[in-house]
Amino acid sequence: MNESLILGIETSCDDTSVAILRGEREILASVVSSQNELHAPFCGIVPEIAARRHLELILPITQQVLSEAKVNMDQITGIGVTTRPGLVPSLVVGLSFAKALAWSRRIPWVGVDHLEAHIFASFLEGEIEFPFLALVVSGGHTSLFVVKGYGELQLLGETRDDAAGEAFDKVASLLQLGYPGGPVIDKAAKEGDPALFELPRPYMKETWDFSFSGLKTAVVHLVKREGIKPGSPEVNHVAAGFQEAVVDVLVAKTLRAVKELSIPRVVVAGGVAANSRLRRRFEEVAKEESLTIKVPPLSLCGDNGAMVAFVARYRLEMGERSPWHEDVRSRTGY
Ligand code: KG4
Ligand code: ZN
Repeated sequence: MNESLILGIETSCDDTSVAILRGEREILASVVSSQNELHAPFCGIVPEIAARRHLELILPITQQVLSEAKVNMDQITGIGVTTRPGLVPSLVVGLSFAKALAWSRRIPWVGVDHLEAHIFASFLEGEIEFPFLALVVSGGHTSLFVVKGYGELQLLGETRDDAAGEAFDKVASLLQLGYPGGPVIDKAAKEGDPALFELPRPYMKETWDFSFSGLKTAVVHLVKREGIKPGSPEVNHVAAGFQEAVVDVLVAKTLRAVKELSIPRVVVAGGVAANSRLRRRFEEVAKEESLTIKVPPLSLCGDNGAMVAFVARYRLEMGERSPWHEDVRSRTGY
């Protein structure tokens, strides 16, 4: 049997991403086009602007990926496209494009859940034994899952308000550090002392859920109370303190799940998994507690088409096909 060649399409938020995956984990080509500069003036993503940009870019990026991979459309054996969760106008562009390609070329296709794709991004680097815990931390989600097999996700808990990435973006905007907030806070925090300003840790020990809006409000009060001015050195201390609080909560809850459920394997996924402090802390914890903790390389933390192609490959191989009337959804199915 010829090896599969899967086209993965991801337009759930503000990155237009397409990749071609050969077999299980050989990424032949992958392009991620960021829209950061378009949304920066608004300190957040404007859905209509994002969708219009996807519309402009989706075909040229697909052509670029095919050309880089030296593959033509006739060789593509399957298509995977993110259909949920995400911004509806953005998702519609990717899904309509995928349907048109699949219809015109008679290629099997399947809609993919974005959170499942983030979790299985780590598998592009090698398999992880089931079951494992998955912490998905992105701009839209903070969720803890038990993953029992391919596509078998059991939600333990999720954020009740702001996602971790969203909190990074809002705090960065408050401190006038720029957008997206994660990378700029990560950088500023390196120059700051995390212990200088006291900030709360919303551990929520009675549940697997998370909550970050109180922490964000505490930063607002701190900045007002101390009269912290944008551009001052204190901004770095606030950034470091905030980042440390988020990381403390994420690591503590994950570790609690490891112990209570006796699952010594963890996958950390999503855009916030790029955070250098979070990566370092999980590395330390893995050593101290003898755990397997997998954090994907930076190129696979943020949104990308390769992770969508990975999920599409196993779903298509299991015989799954999406119906032509498949629609997009703003919420995850998990
Ligand atoms: O997974 P992703 O690319 O898109 C969504 O599915 O939301 O995640 C984007 C989020 C943004 O909130 C961004 O600020 C955050 O990931 N992020 C980071 C870092 N790099 C990106 N957060 C903390 N530290 C980083 N280095
Ligand atoms: Zn994402």
